[in-house]
Amino acid sequence: MRDRVDSLRLQFQNELKDLQRSKDVEELKVRYLGKKGILAELMFFLRDCPPQDRPVWGQLINAVKEEITTTLDRALEAFILSEEKKRLEEEWIDITLPGRRKFCGRYHPISAMLEKALNTLSSMGFSVQYGPDIEDDWYNFEGLNFPKDHPARDMQDTFYIADNLLLRTHTSNTQLRVMEKQAPPIRIVAPGTVYRNEDISARSHVFFHQIEGIYIDKKVSLVDLLSTMKEFWCRLFQKSLDMRFRPSYFPFVEPGVEVDLRCTSCEGGGCRLCKYSGWLEVAGAGMVHPEVLKNGGIDPEIYSGYAWGMGIERLAMIRYGIKDIRQFAQNDMGLLEQF
Ligand code: PHE
Repeated sequence: MRDRVDSLRLQFQNELKDLQRSKDVEELKVRYLGKKGILAELMFFLRDCPPQDRPVWGQLINAVKEEITTTLDRALEAFILSEEKKRLEEEWIDITLPGRRKFCGRYHPISAMLEKALNTLSSMGFSVQYGPDIEDDWYNFEGLNFPKDHPARDMQDTFYIADNLLLRTHTSNTQLRVMEKQAPPIRIVAPGTVYRNEDISARSHVFFHQIEGIYIDKKVSLVDLLSTMKEFWCRLFQKSLDMRFRPSYFPFVEPGVEVDLRCTSCEGGGCRLCKYSGWLEVAGAGMVHPEVLKNGGIDPEIYSGYAWGMGIERLAMIRYGIKDIRQFAQNDMGLLEQF
């Protein structure tokens, strides 16, 4: 028995040398001291030995058991301590480092401008509706009085998808769609992207954004249009602005006007923004043509209305002092982060 205990001790000492981590210690503990462990086996063996030998052998086994228990407990404690130390070293945080700046999403200047304009318009009683980007000839041209040979229909100006299908060249395509859906009074604005087959330059792009406004009711007159325009621009820029209306031509309005704003930058003195004219062209507008009302199922003898259309890029360029329209589509973070 003594030999057995001695060799067990030797075996344990050898295995102890190979331990690397606290987990190894725990495994060894189970193997030696567990319910079915090596020492339990030895105890079992004790039952079969002659009764007079039992106390001595029992003492021997208990002594080695205690020895193993304390050795393992100590080893475990040492490993746990060093492992904890290592972990803390690895997880060391330099609390003096400056924080990382969180990148926040922002509004694109076009979205910001669009939202501001729509908020202003809704405060004036206009509700928002949407028309399709892909449109047919009727809603974009024919129904709006565009003569068959109008240059705007030309392949040079319009992106055609199929014979009768095109990318809308203006948000005026929503005019007939709302008239068809809704009886007067109609008081809506329709924002959206428009597309034109033009050379890309600092002043023009193949796609840009517009807001269309339409108001149809009994006895709507040009004065209503003019005063609504003035009210809108003053509210948008939050100051009293001078405005002028020049006669102009659009097939779907009669009369047609061009809306000019006193230059917001030089206030009329003349600068690069207004090309030294003192005025900024901001919208096309006019009284809805009786033919267009008819096409929309509205009786021009009873109702009249006005419509206007304005470019959002143009507005954003004026408001934010952006000089090149191409910048809106370049995704240049340097520019976008300023908004
Ligand atoms: N649709 C015209 C354009 O894109 C603008 C406009 C809208 C003019 C409504 C008059 C009335 O230039």
